[in-house]
Order: sequence, then structure tokens, then C-alpha cells
Amino acid sequence: MPAFDLVLRGGTCVLPWGEEATDVGVRAGRIAALGDLRTAEAAETIDCTGLHILPGLIDAHVHLRDPGDPAVETLESGTRAALLGGLTAVFDMPNTAPSITDRERLDWKRGYLEGRAWVDVGLYVGASKKNIAELASLELQPNVCAVKVFAGSSTGDLLVEDDASLEAVMRSGRRRICYHSEDEYRLQERKPLFTSGMPHRNHMVWRDVDCALIGTQRLMTLARKTGRPAHILHVSTAEELELLRDYRDVSTVEVLLNHLTQTDEAYDRLGGYAVMNPPIRDERHLRAAWAAIADGTVDVVGSDHAPHSRAAKERPWPDGAAGLTGVQTIVPLMLDHVSAGRLSLSRLADLMCAGPARVYGANGKGRLAAGYDADFTVVDMKRQRTIEEGWIVSPCGWTPFAGHRCTGWPVMAILRGAVAMREDEVIGTPRGTGVRFAEARG
Ligand code: DOR
Repeated sequence: MPAFDLVLRGGTCVLPWGEEATDVGVRAGRIAALGDLRTAEAAETIDCTGLHILPGLIDAHVHLRDPGDPAVETLESGTRAALLGGLTAVFDMPNTAPSITDRERLDWKRGYLEGRAWVDVGLYVGASKKNIAELASLELQPNVCAVKVFAGSSTGDLLVEDDASLEAVMRSGRRRICYHSEDEYRLQERKPLFTSGMPHRNHMVWRDVDCALIGTQRLMTLARKTGRPAHILHVSTAEELELLRDYRDVSTVEVLLNHLTQTDEAYDRLGGYAVMNPPIRDERHLRAAWAAIADGTVDVVGSDHAPHSRAAKERPWPDGAAGLTGVQTIVPLMLDHVSAGRLSLSRLADLMCAGPARVYGANGKGRLAAGYDADFTVVDMKRQRTIEEGWIVSPCGWTPFAGHRCTGWPVMAILRGAVAMREDEVIGTPRGTGVRFAEARG
């Protein structure tokens, strides 16, 4: 019997401290060896000469809309998009229709993903004012990555906006809680200042810097008071990043690809297809986000993949839906940022693999090392390719990044030792399963 099921030969591995030319041996779905395996026997060998091998990249922030509207997205289509885009795991948000807020729906979702998911899936549980008493038990269920709190309203009906309820949520359990942080009171107070049909750029005027900052300040005060770890999702302002540098004891930080890539010119170019919560803002915030990537303030980069129908995106502002697709394009676009010299491949692996594994406590994911899941994102940093709308497999069928030329492209994704995507083709059947988390059962 050969020593390995699979050997990736001749590639450059992306390790936490830098890049190293080394082979990778896989046995029983796990990494078994890193080193010179030129003479090792393997059932299958893949020549990775000229390619970089990253640990399987994770998008820790996606909305796959299942249950919901299959004409927009399903778990099957969203995970297929993830795989074609070079990811090996996604963490799926709970603001579906209906939302995932109780044991019954969570159990249903866990069963539903088997045989349908093309990549591994972590499941968020939504907090509502009605399920606070159950959150402590819900967060410990198998494959749950975290409780998600919408402290400001967005798509769906999940909302926990007042300090008393937020404190009760924080006192309900012990795992890190993920927050959509925009101050609901300020959002509602400012809404009457705007009327239907105004230019889309008013989105960032309505949901302004203070909405985000006040929301995050309130959450940080409560997190420190209760001692409950927090993860602030999609931090979008220079001011919050500055604040969060002083709260490393209780909080970790996510920044979105969109906030690292787009500025307010997008409103004039894309109209409703630039509208998301929290909003895309001006250049100053984009620069602050990159500075926070460089100095280590940011733990995770995600896409906040949030598909909506074209009809919903094309309604006049602010009556349209907020949210942008991104699960299929995040890896190419981050590789393009690497090519432009904005971060290293090691830092990318940290932000999209080790970071999510650390923040959410994912077992077996996070780095290229013996014993870890044999999940790999294999990329060609010389490949140049333009993102085309026709490539998008989410049924809603659009991307705000159509026409963006990328240098660097994911050419293969390997899921627990088996090639699952190669050169734009998904291979085999949906083999994704629930991600295991250290503090959850199962
Ligand atoms: O723009 C957004 N869209 N932000 C969110 O927080 C939710 C998301 C969605 O589900 O559409």
C-alpha cells in the first residue's frame, strides 16, 4: 500500500512565516507530511510546479439564503460558487426565511447540508429577543460556529438593539458572539431625512460613520462589562478600527473584501449594486482598513456574500435590498490585492484560514501542518483573468466586480484529500460536511 493517498509535488507552500518550496503528503483526508516527497509512493500525485498551495481558504461570512428563495441562491449553488472561487469552507448566516433561531431549524439545516454542500459549512445561530434563554444550549450544538446578533437591522427580521437585551444575550453563554454593529436608534432616527429615489450614495450618509461607531462603542462597553468575547463583523470605519485596537482583550475584528476594494465612486457606477450594510464608504476608510490589515488589528477577511434578485437591487434607493454577492470572487480579488503588493500570501492565509479557525475555534482547519484537514486552495499567481458575470453560478447571476481583471487565480481546491475543483470544474459529488468547532458538541 502506498505511503500516501495523495502527494502535491513541486509547489510552494504558504506557511505562517512565509513561503517554502515543499511537497505535501496526504493520508486519510489529513495532512501527513510536509517535506521532500520526491521518492514517496502515492496513490495519486499532482504536479504543482509553478503553483502556490495555501491551506483551504474559508469565507466566514456568507448568506446562502437556504431556506429562502432558490431563484436567488441555495446552499447547493452557494457552496458550488464557493468551490469554483477556490474556497473549501464557508460559515453560513442565520437570517434566512425563516431564520435559524431554534433547535429544530438548526437540526434541519445540519441534516440538509449533507449531500448538498460542495464545501464544508459552519452554521450561525441567530439571536432574537425571544430565544435568549436557549442561546447557551444552541451555541454548543454540533457545527455551530457562533451566535450572530444583528444589533442594527439589515436583511431579515433578526434584531437585538437595546442594551438590556444585548447584555442578556452576552450573559447567556460563553463562546465568542458575532455582531452586526450599527446603532439601530441612530439608523431609525435618520431614516426620515431621506426619501425614495435619492441617489444611492445617500446610503453611506444615512448609515453614517457614527451609526457604526456608536454601535461598536456600545457593544465594547457591554462586552467588557460582561467579559463575553465579541467578534465585530464587517468593521467599515477608520474610527471603529482605532477603537477596537484598545479592545483586543474582548474583541476580534472582521473586515470585508468589499471595504478593502470599493469606495464611494461605486455608487455612481453601480447604483443599487453598490448598496450593502454597513455601507461602502470613502477612500479614507479603505486606507484605514489596509493599515489595520498590516498592523494586525484585523483577524478575518470575509465576503458577506449576500445575494438578492436583480429586481430587488434595481428598486429606487432606499427601497432596494442591501447586500452584494462575493463568495465566488473573494479569493481571486484577494489574490489580486496580493499581486498589487497590499498583503502577502501568508497574511492572506492568516486572514482567511488561521484567523477564522482561531476566532471561531474550528478544529482541524487553519494551517498547513501534519494532522490538519487536507484542505488546500491551489493558486496560480501568474494567471490573469477578468471576472465575468457569466462565470457566476449563484442563480441571482450578478457580481459587483464584473470586468475586474485579476492577477492570481485559484486553479484547484482540495477538500479533505480529494480534488473538488480543478480549472473551473467541480469534481464528483457534494462532499461538504459540517465544520467541527472545539467548543461545540460533535
Ligand atoms: O448588506 C447586507 N446584506 N448586510 C447584512 O448585514 C445582511 C446582508 C443580507 O443578508 O442581505
